[in-house]
Amino acid sequence: MDNREQWGSRAGFLFAAIGSAIGLGNIWRFPAVAYANGGGAFFIPYLIALLTAGIPLLILEFTMGHKYRGSAPLTLARISKRGEWLGWWQVLVSFFISTYYPIIIAWAVSYTIFSFNLSWGSNTEAFFQKDYAQFALVHPGQIGGMAWKVVIPLVVVWIVVFAILFKGVQKGIERANKICIPLLVVLFTIIVIRAVTLPGAAEGLDAFFKPDWGKIASGSVWVAAYGQIFFSLSIAFGIMVAYASYLPRKTDITNNAFITGLSNSGFELLAGIGVFAALGFMAHSAGVSINDIAQGGPNLVFVVLPKIINTLPAFQSAFAVLFFLSIVFAGLTSLISIVEAYVSAVQDKFNISRAKAVGWGGGIAAVLSVLYATKGGLYFLDNIDHFVNAYGVALAGLVEVILVAWVFRKLGELQKHANGISDMRLGAWWTVCLSVITPIVLGYMMIDSIRTDFKAPYSGYSGSFLALGVAIAVLSIVLGWIIAGLKWKRTLEEQKEVS
Ligand code: ALA
Repeated sequence: MDNREQWGSRAGFLFAAIGSAIGLGNIWRFPAVAYANGGGAFFIPYLIALLTAGIPLLILEFTMGHKYRGSAPLTLARISKRGEWLGWWQVLVSFFISTYYPIIIAWAVSYTIFSFNLSWGSNTEAFFQKDYAQFALVHPGQIGGMAWKVVIPLVVVWIVVFAILFKGVQKGIERANKICIPLLVVLFTIIVIRAVTLPGAAEGLDAFFKPDWGKIASGSVWVAAYGQIFFSLSIAFGIMVAYASYLPRKTDITNNAFITGLSNSGFELLAGIGVFAALGFMAHSAGVSINDIAQGGPNLVFVVLPKIINTLPAFQSAFAVLFFLSIVFAGLTSLISIVEAYVSAVQDKFNISRAKAVGWGGGIAAVLSVLYATKGGLYFLDNIDHFVNAYGVALAGLVEVILVAWVFRKLGELQKHANGISDMRLGAWWTVCLSVITPIVLGYMMIDSIRTDFKAPYSGYSGSFLALGVAIAVLSIVLGWIIAGLKWKRTLEEQKEVS
């Protein structure tokens, strides 16, 4: 019978799913994306994306994992043998993400330690770009030797991830999330309360919330909103399917999805408020406008925020430690889930122990992650992340809804399954969102991304360097086909876990 690992409690599953969702995407990606896309006007597309794609897809993935009780490839293979490659594609996308995601956590580990004596000094930009990550010393595409200061925290991050995953679903993943997520919420709430009570905070919040109605009509704002929701909710990574496969038979799927989706967005909003209040304080003290200091990506967190921390009236180190530690907790709980997506897939397909799957899968990812701990690592990260997100996560999400809704025609059956065990009943909104709205919006997103990428090279990088990002995105699909073609160690029938 069913000997699949299981969560110890509903709360355990929810903490793990929320832990996966809340990650680097919430703390640094969201504030920057929201700001770049019109501040307050971004919330309307964002909320619509959450309700039309985010939560419906989360319900879909939870239901698929729960009904077919498998990792993404096993679940899709059980739906139809022709679907298995999509599962492999998704977990391979997670695999590639897990090679660079730990680098940012490693930076945050270092910065937590630097926080004790603010060792980044007054020139935070030179410190981050030349002394620490050292990418300013090389050109995009060059490796330039190791950035040694990043290597040690990277090793630490991997040791923690291995230790948690070796222990399994209940004793490892569940326990880690039950500790990290409440801690994260407490730490982050303290930071936000401090940030909004700083002088100038209101100006920052104004920039964040003030609607720019001119921008709402632009397609790119909608693309950004849907992209943010996908990344932030860990949708189409193969994660939520695997996590739901460890649920007991009796559980409330729909409610779980609403709790996960709304908690993630709540945290995202909190992060936006905290970051922008702090930016408002900086603009106020320097007498400049927020536009001059708001920056995206790594610079916001590792250059601008340390600068803000330097000028805080009191408790600089305490504030800094809390902030960087929050990134470490948020990132770790997401990284664990990203690795678990392919660990569970390898275990299912090749019928090997968890220890072997973690050792091999995580081991290869850990070795590859060293590429990003080089001086040129940040450029590799930026390049590969761009293509993996656009043509990995979002495209795989589009293919997922098209296959499940239109090719395999499984929405009705899945709706019945979810309704059979959930309090809240899924009505026509769910099927319409998944079969009509999401494919149209994601289809548009794809065309828009391709058009933008052809119009101008991403970040001004050279064609040969960008080819690497494209190659990784294509490799996930090709390898997905190849692995799907391999034989299952145990036949799908032998596993007999379909409800
Ligand atoms: N959902 C994760 C994040 O937001 C991947 O970082």
